Amino acid sequence: MFDVLRLREDFPMMKKTMNGKPLIYLDTASTSQKPQSVIDAVHRFYKEDYGTVHRAVYEIAAHSTEMYSAVRSKIQRFIHARDEEEIVFTRGTTEAINLVAYSYGRTFLEAGDEIIISEMEHHSNIVPWQLLAEEKGLKLKYIPMSLEGELRMDVFKERLSEKTKFVSVGHISNATGTINPIQEIIKLSHEVGAKVLIDGAQAASHITLDMQTLNADFYAFSGHKMYGPTGIGVLYGKLPLLEAMPPFISGGNMIESVTIEKSTFQAPPFKFEAGTPSIASVIGLGAAIDYIETIGKEAIDGWQKKLITVALEKLKPMSGIKIIGAPKERGPIISFVLNGIHPLDLGTLLGLKGIAVRTGHLCAYPTLQRLGVNSLARLSFGMYNTIEEIDAAAYAIKEGALILRPMNATSHQSQ
Ligand SMILES: Cc1ncc(COP(=O)(O)O)c(C=O)c1O
Repeated sequence: MFDVLRLREDFPMMKKTMNGKPLIYLDTASTSQKPQSVIDAVHRFYKEDYGTVHRAVYEIAAHSTEMYSAVRSKIQRFIHARDEEEIVFTRGTTEAINLVAYSYGRTFLEAGDEIIISEMEHHSNIVPWQLLAEEKGLKLKYIPMSLEGELRMDVFKERLSEKTKFVSVGHISNATGTINPIQEIIKLSHEVGAKVLIDGAQAASHITLDMQTLNADFYAFSGHKMYGPTGIGVLYGKLPLLEAMPPFISGGNMIESVTIEKSTFQAPPFKFEAGTPSIASVIGLGAAIDYIETIGKEAIDGWQKKLITVALEKLKPMSGIKIIGAPKERGPIISFVLNGIHPLDLGTLLGLKGIAVRTGHLCAYPTLQRLGVNSLARLSFGMYNTIEEIDAAAYAIKEGALILRPMNATSHQSQ
């Protein structure tokens, strides 16, 4: 049995108030709250085990290195990668995607080659490819989305050709919550010889990942969206690809030899990890994985699906509401607009009631453009949210609409 009330005890932030009201945190898609075990792991590491990694021979550095390396093996198991060397630590999803665009893209893509992304990407899976395309003379194509928030797979098939050399799409949209058919996208892309990156920022915390079955060439995710610390993320890459790719950033830790004229580099993953890493954040990420595994991804996903069902039932009948997208498979994310009310006004009002929701463009301008909106309000759920919190949020949204609509109508009349 999924015992959400017991589980909430593990998250100190769940006891917080905001503006004098109990905090209802519905912004997990931006960043998740952390269980005490993650906070403790980071704290304990600094207090008892802290030392540098890779460089020194003394005992605490050796121990620190051991702890740090153990997390790499843990991530390998967590995503069922073939080799530990396929796990590269980055600062987050953004850096992981940039790493691939700069290192793989600059080296292996040539003028005239085509890259396909989708219309529902987060900016971090758009901008690096635009910059690369400009620099290298590549053609950037996209998979359009339907108004339901589904990728137009028919158009994808048409746009995919022998010229397509790289495909980069999100596993779950941070705006519509759509779970994309990534298995099919990977298979189709491989059929024309293209490499594939999957942006897993919104998926890694609750979807069981198996890199060997999925067969993506690259998969990226962030620690802070999966109950771990900020400043740490993961790029999974197939080993032969990582071996063939040049370094992304360079400096200490990643070299094999340096003379004043020339340097040679270590094998992956170290080749891509220049500089002193976020050691404590890696330790915290290890604790976050332990925590997720203790609760169980299936249990987390099952609970979040229930929250989504309840939230949709509550929101759909509201007058003047437009829920953005109606994907067949949805992650724990619902975006919406209320007729005649700016999402920022609604977000501010909800904030005053202790309810944290994300508003604005959600770093997904092209998605919003396609759906004909400038700004959204978004509810997103984590394992710690309750049905009662959804009831309270739905009530506050309804009440907010009653307060804000007449205010807006009056202010428009007086203009
Ligand atoms: C789908 C998606 N991709 C990428 C990112 C970027 O993640 P980060 O800011 O942790 O690098 C986000 C963050 O919201 C996201 O939702």
